[in-house]
Amino acid sequence: MLVIFTRPPTNEHQSSAAILDASPFSSPAPYVKKYFMAILKVSRLGHPVLRKVTENISTQELQSPEIQKFIDDMIETMKEYDGVGLAADQVHESKQVAVLEVADNPRYPDKAKVPLTVLVNPQITPLSDEMEEDWEGCLSIPDLRGRVPRYKTIHVQALDRSGNTLDFIANDFHARVIQHEFDHLNGKVYLDRMRDLTTLTFLQEFARYWLRP
Ligand code: NI
Repeated sequence: MLVIFTRPPTNEHQSSAAILDASPFSSPAPYVKKYFMAILKVSRLGHPVLRKVTENISTQELQSPEIQKFIDDMIETMKEYDGVGLAADQVHESKQVAVLEVADNPRYPDKAKVPLTVLVNPQITPLSDEMEEDWEGCLSIPDLRGRVPRYKTIHVQALDRSGNTLDFIANDFHARVIQHEFDHLNGKVYLDRMRDLTTLTFLQEFARYWLRP
């Protein structure tokens, strides 16, 4: 964690990533100890953390500056690697938290947008048996893609990063991303969900053989 001492700017908007400390220096030159967001190292397939069921986060733990900073770092890491979702165990923390956002993403250019969402202790329930197969990739399984069946519509219950209840229905790609991240939190990866491995392809071959009309 990078920690430096800096003078607080006037009119400062304090982000959730920044934590004010009692100044070790005398007034009128107060200093803040400021924590900057960090890009975290992504765990890759084979690391045991990806196969463990992650731990529930208590309300008290969720309020801690450490978890709030960690959530900021997860968001930063997801954006850095053009992911549409990231689970905590993908950055070596076995905790029940995942982040997702589908914006203008070069890896998924044709998908409907999903606002930035933090899911803590998520539970999902399929609302019908209807499943759909589509391509998935994973930051923990670099350079590969494969076709994965997922429920088309799911009911999602979770907490947000402030501890408020989230209760919503997700469809299609939104539902797919949440099922992918939910699986991570339960020690599973998308390869486990493929009906067979015949569509598993490297990205270069994906572009060459599978994207053609
Ligand atoms: Ni993944």
